[in-house]
Amino acid sequence: MNHSVPTQGDAQRHVSSQPWLHQQGVEVQEFGTIRQFPLGLSRDTRLYSCQRLTQVLADTQILYALYKKHHWLMRGATFYQLHLLLDKHAGEQLELVDMVAERVQTLGGVAVGDPRHVAEITVIPRPPDGAEEVPAMLSRLLEAHETILVDAHDAAAKAAEMGDDGTNDLLVSNIIRTGELQAWFLAEHLVDTPLVRA
Ligand SMILES: [Fe+2]
Repeated sequence: MNHSVPTQGDAQRHVSSQPWLHQQGVEVQEFGTIRQFPLGLSRDTRLYSCQRLTQVLADTQILYALYKKHHWLMRGATFYQLHLLLDKHAGEQLELVDMVAERVQTLGGVAVGDPRHVAEITVIPRPPDGAEEVPAMLSRLLEAHETILVDAHDAAAKAAEMGDDGTNDLLVSNIIRTGELQAWFLAEHLVDTPLVRA
């Protein structure tokens, strides 16, 4: 391929709309490293926040996937409402995934994105490939929520201690508040209450 730069006014200049396909390059930033950004936060603080956010990001991506799985596999008398509710929660978790990933980037890090990489990082237990009973599906989601909440509370407190108010705010206002609300909606479906006669 001729890569010479054509000069202006050259009657013979070569122009092309052909995209340069099948390109390969080197990794320009290793996972787990951070770039220097002028945010008024120390390198150590940003690195620590990125490490804590990486765990939250991986677990939240798995929670999103669990919500979708159970949205699809739902069954029984409450199929319709749970099918819709789990999809709503999945959508909200997906928004959180984006917010946390972009916080990692904002701090100069590299957000974990590939699901195979996510699977290596998450601490949320893998569900069976098949379908579980409905209460077991809901319990599984609740437990995943609690795992993330425990981690997020700790990470938020440490981020505040280290002066990373933005990360603290994201964890408290988004991860924790959304997770708590979703956990409430799930838990109310596990109350054994009569449907017709008191
Ligand atoms: Fe759907």
